[in-house]
Amino acid sequence: SGLDLVIAGGTVVTAADSYAADIGIRDGRIAQIGEGLTGADRIDASGLLVLPGGIDAHVHLDQPTSDGTVMADGFASGTRSAAAGGNTTVLPFALQIKGQSLRACVEEYHRKAAGNCHTDVSFHLIVTDPTPQVLGQELPALVRDGYTSLKVFMTYDDLVLNDAQLLDVFEVARRERALVMVHAEGHDAIKHLTRRLEDQGRTAPYYHGQAHAQIAEREATHRAISHAQLIDVPIVIVHVSGRDPMEQIQWARARGLKVHAETCPQYIALTAEDLRGLNMDFEGAKYVCSPPPRDADSEAAIWQGLRDGTFDLFSSDHCPFRIEGPGSKDNPRARTSFKWVPNGIPGVETRLPILFSEGVSKGRISLQRFVALTSTNPARLYGLYPQKGSIAIGADADLTLWDPTVTRPICQASLNHGCDYTPYEGMEITGWPVRTLLRGRTIARDGAPTGQPQGGHLARAISETFENG
Ligand code: URP
Ligand code: ZN
Ligand code: ZN
Ligand code: ZN
Repeated sequence: SGLDLVIAGGTVVTAADSYAADIGIRDGRIAQIGEGLTGADRIDASGLLVLPGGIDAHVHLDQPTSDGTVMADGFASGTRSAAAGGNTTVLPFALQIKGQSLRACVEEYHRKAAGNCHTDVSFHLIVTDPTPQVLGQELPALVRDGYTSLKVFMTYDDLVLNDAQLLDVFEVARRERALVMVHAEGHDAIKHLTRRLEDQGRTAPYYHGQAHAQIAEREATHRAISHAQLIDVPIVIVHVSGRDPMEQIQWARARGLKVHAETCPQYIALTAEDLRGLNMDFEGAKYVCSPPPRDADSEAAIWQGLRDGTFDLFSSDHCPFRIEGPGSKDNPRARTSFKWVPNGIPGVETRLPILFSEGVSKGRISLQRFVALTSTNPARLYGLYPQKGSIAIGADADLTLWDPTVTRPICQASLNHGCDYTPYEGMEITGWPVRTLLRGRTIARDGAPTGQPQGGHLARAISETFENG
């Protein structure tokens, strides 16, 4: 029977290869891959790359904060921004408030997302209160319902788990085969450094980078790895910022431990120097995120890790706060100390262009590696493969048409997020998405979202990391 749509004349790129072919779409899925296909509708992709839609596996949308700061993106603007940046699926978090049932938390995020999503979405859980009820009943039931990953924090007063709690969560994750994402920064070391810096009057946003020292990240990374080894459970170390934590991950891998790793655009496109702002002023708050960007040596290590497989995942850690106005980073307390500056920067729309331009266009990584890091691996690790993350017969027709030749700078004025700045303003990018299709329907063209929200929620399978070896 006939095809609804043919993407004609492009270069198909997967994590394994690239080849010239037409893609035939029927009922939102890839039905044929070949030459000379015809269908009811046709998109000319000559001169373009045809990629599996981007999957951003680390995105914060519409999360409440304890200090009245307001996240700049909800599900509508966050997923519009994602679509414009070449993504077809995002994995935001459902953040458990202490005392809250995990089930009630998930239902709340479903209400926030319902009818608003321009990409498909699926929630990771954030477990902040691992009560016997959460560990014994709620978490196992939610994993069975398709919430097959969760995040734990080793720092932040509101979120931190102690070692005993981490071990408890790891044990349930092993039993239920849930994949644990770990925010690995040592809480007490950060608090100690923060007090010392404040005592010395070093309170500008710049000092956030010194308080969140790479040594504290390295220590927590090793501690998470040790605990995971003790329980015999796979983990993902998320937002790895530099050489020191990477060495711990490589140490673990060399011993056969299943330690996966994620890095983010801020660790290849920003450095600690950006936090200085104009002259150690509040402008630096635009770059405050945790872990913070490091130095040129760490940046080189990150590139090596993106090439050699130390990193499985390249995600945005999109966590947008406005830099001005009510509910923004700039609040009276934040002016008194870096420790009150909300942590997080926007990036869901610029993730793919930055990695493509700095990585593929500059010859640091291959096209295949780009697709693996940004789509195929996240699909595999988070239980979405092969419905998502591949270009193959039967897969969802989630496709991003990419022009590898066009050069223009990143510019806040042309972004679709709800934030009032981008930390990457003026960065020259070669290679931009020109069209994003979700299940065969165009959701963005030339950097602008199109049409009504048609994204759905995805129940996810158990991570492949539990199946293989
Ligand atoms: O600074 C950051 N990354 N904020 C977002 C929350 C997190 O830890 O991922
Ligand atoms: Zn984190
Ligand atoms: Zn995050
Ligand atoms: Zn601009």
